Amino acid sequence: MCGIIGYIGPRDVSSVLLGGLKRLEYRGYDSAGLTIKSPEGLVTFKAVGKIAELEKKVGGGNLKGDLGIAHTRWATHGEPNEINAHPHLDAKGEVAIVHNGIIENYYALKDFLTKEGFKIVSDTDSEIIAHLIQKFHNGSFPEAVAKALELIEGTFGLAVIQREENKIIAARRGSPLVLGLGEGEMFIASDVSAVLDYTKKIVYLNDDELAIVERDGYSVKNLKGEEVNKKVYEIKWTLDQIEKKGFKHFMLKEIFEQPEAVINTLRGRVKEGKIKLSLDLDLNSLRRIVIVACGTSWHSALIGKYLLEKNTDIPVEVDYASEFRYRDPLVNKNDLVIVISQSGETADTLAALKEAKAKGAKTLGIINVVGSTIAREVEMGIYSHAGPEIGVASTKAFTVQVIDLLLLALFLRQEKGLKPEKTIINDLEVLPEKIKEVLKQSDNIRKLAKKFVNCKNIIYLGRGLNFPVALEGALKLKEISYIHAEGYPAAEMKHGPIALVDKNMPVMFIATQDGTYEKILSNMEEIKARGGEIIAIINKEDKRISRLTDNIIKVPSVSNELMPIINAVPMQFFAYHVADLKGIDMDKPRNLAKSVTVE
Ligand code: F6R
Repeated sequence: MCGIIGYIGPRDVSSVLLGGLKRLEYRGYDSAGLTIKSPEGLVTFKAVGKIAELEKKVGGGNLKGDLGIAHTRWATHGEPNEINAHPHLDAKGEVAIVHNGIIENYYALKDFLTKEGFKIVSDTDSEIIAHLIQKFHNGSFPEAVAKALELIEGTFGLAVIQREENKIIAARRGSPLVLGLGEGEMFIASDVSAVLDYTKKIVYLNDDELAIVERDGYSVKNLKGEEVNKKVYEIKWTLDQIEKKGFKHFMLKEIFEQPEAVINTLRGRVKEGKIKLSLDLDLNSLRRIVIVACGTSWHSALIGKYLLEKNTDIPVEVDYASEFRYRDPLVNKNDLVIVISQSGETADTLAALKEAKAKGAKTLGIINVVGSTIAREVEMGIYSHAGPEIGVASTKAFTVQVIDLLLLALFLRQEKGLKPEKTIINDLEVLPEKIKEVLKQSDNIRKLAKKFVNCKNIIYLGRGLNFPVALEGALKLKEISYIHAEGYPAAEMKHGPIALVDKNMPVMFIATQDGTYEKILSNMEEIKARGGEIIAIINKEDKRISRLTDNIIKVPSVSNELMPIINAVPMQFFAYHVADLKGIDMDKPRNLAKSVTVE
């Protein structure tokens, strides 16, 4: 996610800013930039890609200045390029800003500024803040910032500098921002890790607070202009602990980030019972949907098939991207080919997309990384908004892919004149809280993981919407714990795999109550009769399965369509804890890469 660092003091400003940006690299970013107030005015450098690219542009040591601000950008509005990278300046080069967050009334403000003659050059929502501040700057710089913020709806973590002013203004609403207090020098950052090399004295800004930061001091006001007394915290955490927010691994942190990822993915897309997506689709000519993806994204595609067929009556096929690309697929202009990819860079998925385009199909992407190659190649898209996923095993990206597919299914249903079911809309709203309930199970699941840590094989079974979850659970376990795991539709067991079952073969059932619950119970009895040890994910109200096994993980109930998300979370925990107990660094499992850009 985007990161901010600002500095005012006697040190070499560009070195402090570049050092701070490097400390923020772990959050994920696609471009970076900095602005320094030098004797010649505001000097800005930007680069796409790594901080090292920015460092090359800044050059060594010749850039003199008193203060500066810098940013790592994770694209949300507009692709990652130098124009969209922060800092953003007004047309006269008087004001420079770096911004984290989303401006919800961006289009209205852009129209307002354009009518007033301001020229907006980037695709970002952030740039308008620089123009607004410059417009209102008529004496007091802090007042100009406060006035601009009055107009903004949405979230911001903001740092602003002005050509003539020896101060940095910082403001926060919804996006974290801290002040780092030094001796004769001050820091601003979105994340403590950026300043910890210099100071451990930290002030946390609260929402709707504005800080005026000078070399020898600072003051904090609320947006009404009233002084606020701030507590100074002494930070004791190590840098490593902070980057992972105190979690032992990125994967664990990302599992815990799922409620927030869901909120971000739903933001602005469900309003008054209606689904809002900007997609240009002619349903009259749409004959079929084909979804192509790899790995975890392929599993979310399988769930998407159920959701789309149920809501739209349009036939849906799901294919591995690597198979689709080489089998001369039968697709044409009446087909919609959906590609799903967290990274947006997976070589097989990209090749499948090109194949679909060459055959005249319409294409739609469900992509997490804005501006990635696949995001640029598709005709239309729904971004996932999971935020950067650093652990190699996909967790939060899977969850939001399923949400995007459900939103798409409900949107197409709506386009056909049918309302989405009210219970689903209501359950989407409460989903983050329900996921939080599952997150409380981490310690219980670790106990189970201890019991099964030495097993050599494990089978995952589910039916209907939970069959892909079984596949996903098995993939998670094998890729990070190196235990052989297989996922099957539960009823398929009797057609072969049941021969493997004995006391050494644990079987993980996803057995929450839906239309196939009774059948799952029979499948469990079959396993138990053959001496297999059962682990079961069940609804917390369920009393029947508790009689069959002690290895129980209880989850809350939501609409069937959302249960795959609820059920995937214990699977992620189970795989994580088994891997951790085995001493494996699951953030970087052997032989695997986060984005597979080779065939
Ligand atoms: C598994 C995992 C991989 C990816 C696959 C596709 O945890 O992460 O299976 O899902 O490599 O990657 P994307 O979604 O980036 O195309």
